[in-house]
Amino acid sequence: MKQETVTVLGNEHLGNGYFRIGLDCSQAYRIAGPGQFVMVHLMDSDAPLLRRPFSIHRQIIDHDRLGGIELLYKVVGNCTEKISRLERGDRLDLLGPLGSGFRISKAHSRIHLVSGGIGVAPMAFLAMSLLEAGIESSACKVFLGGRTQDDVLCREIFSDLGMVLSISTDDGSAGNAGLVTDPLEVAVKAEKPDMIYACGPMGMLGSVADIAESFSVSCQVSVETVMACGMGACLGCAVERRGGQDAFLHACVDGPVFDAALLEY
Ligand code: FES
Repeated sequence: MKQETVTVLGNEHLGNGYFRIGLDCSQAYRIAGPGQFVMVHLMDSDAPLLRRPFSIHRQIIDHDRLGGIELLYKVVGNCTEKISRLERGDRLDLLGPLGSGFRISKAHSRIHLVSGGIGVAPMAFLAMSLLEAGIESSACKVFLGGRTQDDVLCREIFSDLGMVLSISTDDGSAGNAGLVTDPLEVAVKAEKPDMIYACGPMGMLGSVADIAESFSVSCQVSVETVMACGMGACLGCAVERRGGQDAFLHACVDGPVFDAALLEY
């Protein structure tokens, strides 16, 4: 883990308030894993006091050397609105890589990746890491969900990797009309994957965990929580542990990726 000042390489508006920002971070991020995150602090005088957490979306690899990392984010408040106005050459304070990410087994031959909305951010890095680990793209099926077609991001990343895509939107403006967990359940029942990886809102993760449990499939979920410190000091990122009365885990140090069966949703 390293704290450093990094330079913005680019900050692309993808539409509907979603952005992808590139940062020229140090080589410490070469060993970052999918599901890990960074804490970002703006450097201008009226910047919000607290850092904000962002999943690592992708590593930028240039001739086998790390050229930086990308973060995918949605403008939802003052901090992300300020970040959205950053331009190439601007500076940011970065702390990371943090947390424990998705665990990958080369032995898996059927894998389902599931995301809702901005929960797709770490799944692009995960998809690339699965292929780097030697898993065939044909072994991976990706389920993307969003409120509308504008909330379904990164389709081209997964299809360029050769992965089969299933799209669901609440309003039916793209793919199936309904929840992303509807086609997931059908596929899990038919194919019994070795592993389900999921990231998205807690309600969606709870449904994915239920499906995994019903069909006795292993499942890892990445939770989205409020984080103030990212290092286990503020206890602001507590998530409830299943079965333990008032037992909590902390997303920043125990996660943000957990075995699905470990959590109360
Ligand atoms: Fe502070 Fe987790 S964010 S303890």
